[in-house]
Amino acid sequence: MKRRDFVKTGIAAGAMTALPQSVLAREAVATRTPRDAEGPFYPLGNRDNDSADLLLNMQTQRGDILLLKGTVIDIYGQPVSGATLDLWQTDPEGRYLHPDDTSPGARHTDFAYWGKAVTGQDGTYAFRTYVPGAYAPRPAHIHYKVFRDGRHVLTSQIYFRELGGTKGHSFSTRDQDLLEASLTQVGEGTFETDFQIVI
Ligand SMILES: [Fe+2]
Repeated sequence: MKRRDFVKTGIAAGAMTALPQSVLAREAVATRTPRDAEGPFYPLGNRDNDSADLLLNMQTQRGDILLLKGTVIDIYGQPVSGATLDLWQTDPEGRYLHPDDTSPGARHTDFAYWGKAVTGQDGTYAFRTYVPGAYAPRPAHIHYKVFRDGRHVLTSQIYFRELGGTKGHSFSTRDQDLLEASLTQVGEGTFETDFQIVI
């Protein structure tokens, strides 16, 4: 080997060993949350005042309350801060506030039907809403999208084991169980769900 080639090889080898261990050792530890259908009822209304609290008047509450909380992490297990969760769902009677949902009955005026939350430094989010009602033939579910750095990264749905899980769900994925969460009763007519989202 000529000296010039030896020097080049030496520099290349040196550069390899100089790479930080954190880069070399980084490997995925979490499975990405499967995508799910957006469906036909994405909110059409003004979203300027969207909030993580969808219950507009606790004096006129008509349904089981759901405290939906959790964490958004990446596939390396790191919390994702500043991610926006855009959520929409049915009321306790299984109806959307959308012109294409022709289910009968007046909609709740004290329920927002959709909302947004931004994850904190630790990747956590929290919504206060109703436990969604099911509409035939689908199991009860909540729709959501996730945006990171203003970019849309996931559209999916949350299903509840105590409400039939994904049974009857038309969309099938190898990781179907990752779409399911549990409802835990924490008070009279109040339930809590902890749901992790991996993006
Ligand atoms: Fe839906």
